[in-house]
Amino acid sequence: MLAKINPTSTKSWAKLKEHQRQIEPSHLRDFFSKDPKRFADFQVSFDDILFDFSKNRITKETMGLLKQLMEECKVADGIEKQFSGATINETENRAVLHTALRNFSGNPVFVHGKDVMPQIFKVLEQMKSFSEKVISGEWRGHTGSRIKSIVNIGIGGSDLGPMMVSEALKPYHVSGIQGYFVSNVDGGDIAETLKNLDPDSTLFIVASKTFSTQETMTNARSARKWLLDSGAPQGAIAKHFVAVSTNHQAVADFGIDPENVFEFWEWVGGRYSVWSSIGLSLCCILGYENFESFLKGAHEMDEHFKTAPFENNAPMIMAALGIWYVNFWNVDSEAIIPYYQNMHRFAAYFQQGNMESNGKSVDRNGKAVDYKTGPVVWGEPGTNGQHAFFQLLHQGKHMIPCDFIGFSNSPYPLSDHQQKLMANFFAQTEALMMGKTKEEVMAGMGESINKNLVPFKVFEGNRPTTTILANTPNPNTIGKLLACYEHKIFVQGLVWNIFSYDQWGVELGKQLAEKILPALDASDSNHPQFDSSTSGLIAKFHKDRTKS
Ligand code: F6P
Repeated sequence: MLAKINPTSTKSWAKLKEHQRQIEPSHLRDFFSKDPKRFADFQVSFDDILFDFSKNRITKETMGLLKQLMEECKVADGIEKQFSGATINETENRAVLHTALRNFSGNPVFVHGKDVMPQIFKVLEQMKSFSEKVISGEWRGHTGSRIKSIVNIGIGGSDLGPMMVSEALKPYHVSGIQGYFVSNVDGGDIAETLKNLDPDSTLFIVASKTFSTQETMTNARSARKWLLDSGAPQGAIAKHFVAVSTNHQAVADFGIDPENVFEFWEWVGGRYSVWSSIGLSLCCILGYENFESFLKGAHEMDEHFKTAPFENNAPMIMAALGIWYVNFWNVDSEAIIPYYQNMHRFAAYFQQGNMESNGKSVDRNGKAVDYKTGPVVWGEPGTNGQHAFFQLLHQGKHMIPCDFIGFSNSPYPLSDHQQKLMANFFAQTEALMMGKTKEEVMAGMGESINKNLVPFKVFEGNRPTTTILANTPNPNTIGKLLACYEHKIFVQGLVWNIFSYDQWGVELGKQLAEKILPALDASDSNHPQFDSSTSGLIAKFHKDRTKS
């Protein structure tokens, strides 16, 4: 069992409150001018990744107190329990072992006394062999055509992870195979995807931990119909459909050959499942070697997380800073801004990772918490974001800590694109930190000074950012970055005394949708069983459909 400590009852919490009051008036600009060593003092280097924390509103005392908070909340004990397979997802009575899926240490990992590593390696071997057959053309469609299109059908963690990583690693895609990701139950998603595909050369991967998710099963049935409507016989399903699931019975009921099922386990949470057979589409799109390199990167980050002292532990510091801003600076939101266009779904991926994990208001004792927990997480790539929401980051009333993620080298060495991209990357965090004073604005205006405009051109600055600068966006580094953010989320959940690995909050909407569906199918437009707003909207839905 995880410790159940109310973080607000710790000594460090009270000290952090007082400390925040003391440093609130200080400007980051002054921290830098007073301490030429600030960059060196507030950074962590791990392999080729540099984490620069110096542009945060912190001092050495802040970090000391945050470290004390981690100790008082028994974070180290929680980490040890997670990695060793204890049942830390208590409300679902499960262990949490996505880290075992990328455990290349050679050490066993036990769940209820059984080492899970042999079964993990067995499934990895199955994924390797299958993806090699698809890529080499040994696996063919029912008419003998090579597979050219892989369509992953899943949603949430069964979609966002592989889709985001596939995009992030575009330069590593194998030639001759195109990956597609269908998730939304909106028929447009699958219809637009399939309209240009050839059934004979298309392979569907139905990815669903439960194999009961409404969106995924609806899309899978439409895909099956599309294949059969093309004239394919029933037996063709075995050549064009494989499944990734923990629910073997439901997969068999759907008609997928048990030979073509890639297993994973209940101790893999949906939003942490990209490392499992949910990554099968990635193996087919990137090749197994690249997938393994991605897993190995994550494993290296796991080792760093487990062993590095707090002062040198990147995920731990990221978690601590998030808590610092949410609980002591009253921050509600944080942004992730990758300066790499291929990472355009990275923020969306961690929106699920973070908000589904830590969007909780009941503690591990089942009591309502009286402090803030997980923030709103969002973001878009730079430089595009600069021309959209950066105005608010620079001059708005919200303090929004941002992570800027960039790479020194681009896989696209086109003229000076990378230098221009990275000039913006460095400039933005400097601008957010330094701001521009009234005096600087006036000096810049020279003779043509228009005093009325001065207040509009002043930048307060003092806006916190963390810069993560890596060498190049390869599979290993992307694996490390993902694992780093995963651990950040976990550590925050430990401190907030919440269960990060369940998601009861998604149930109510699903249940109500099941109740409303028959009312939409019915010929009758009058459904007073719902509240007046819902029944009024349903009536309009019926009216519109009879008109069209
Ligand atoms: O949205 C809830 C959720 O359970 C997520 O946690 C999960 O990633 C997603 O639905 C998909 O679930 P499944 O893989 O079982 O279809």
